[in-house]
Amino acid sequence: MRNLIPSWVRVPVVFFIIFGLVEYFANSGRQPAFIEYPMVLLFLVFVLFLLIAIEAIVNALENILYQSLDEKGKARFDAKETKTPKFITWIKSLYEKSLGQKPIKEEHEIILDHNYDGIRELDNDLPPWWLYAFYASIVFAVVYLVRFEVFNGENQYDELETEYAEAKIAIEEYKKTAKDLVDFNTVELLTSASDLSNGKAIYEANCVACHMADGGGGIGPNLTDEYWILGGDIKGIFKTVSEGGRNGKGMIAWKQSLKPSEIAQVSSYLLQFKGTTPAKPKEAEGEIWKE
Ligand code: HEC
Repeated sequence: MRNLIPSWVRVPVVFFIIFGLVEYFANSGRQPAFIEYPMVLLFLVFVLFLLIAIEAIVNALENILYQSLDEKGKARFDAKETKTPKFITWIKSLYEKSLGQKPIKEEHEIILDHNYDGIRELDNDLPPWWLYAFYASIVFAVVYLVRFEVFNGENQYDELETEYAEAKIAIEEYKKTAKDLVDFNTVELLTSASDLSNGKAIYEANCVACHMADGGGGIGPNLTDEYWILGGDIKGIFKTVSEGGRNGKGMIAWKQSLKPSEIAQVSSYLLQFKGTTPAKPKEAEGEIWKE
């Protein structure tokens, strides 16, 4: 079996199995455990060197043993090694070993004394595959218990919560890049200088004809006073600009020509008129706006 799978395959495979187990049980955050905890990396490197060392020693011993055989022994050894394809013998022997059964010829060694009407019992060992799986499950249970019951590892609810929080942050991030996703439900007052200067440009290009450059009003109502016909907070204003005013009053739905982000900008800009004194204020319309 030694020479069937070369060590350069075998060692990394074992190494990655151990790595995977460590990663699974020790990983608590977003990074792989071996980056997060240098000790884990050290441990893995140690295991790797250990495997290589064992490998080298075993090979050396085998060589010494082979050299010590006489010609006949060497010939027999070589013959045995080359008869059937090695891979197949290996799988076969692995399978047989994993069953742990005595060959039929040797069954007399393990047959029990008693005889129930001719039915007799073999005292077979537990099959190794079963036994080792059982041991592995015990180890797993201990690690599991310690991790989740003693050290209070993340359970599904915690994981859900972290993922929820992460998703929320991701949505916020996305919204920053996708400004046009806003509508009157989600819009928030923009305060950055660039948004406001964009808003000013949009206002001057589209709105001054009816609302005046200082918001004093003309065809459209005065935007500087506390009186609003259709709602005086950012959400209400966004809605008015986007969907238009009451039918037949002359304020069109600007969503035809402005992007949602632009509506948010111009709405934020015109809220700055609040409390200023325009040159020719139009008389108040609507009602005093209360939040
Ligand atoms: C053609 C003239 C006209 C233009 C151009 C115009 N508006 Fe208006 N606006 C009006 C009229 C008229 C009303 C009143 C609507 C009503 O009574 O329902 C109004 C109402 C409003 C209101 C609601 C005021 C309140 O008291 O509730 C806001 C906010 C507003 N306009 C913003 C804008 C913005 C921003 C622009 C430019 C993108 C703009 N308007 C362009 C005529 C105009």
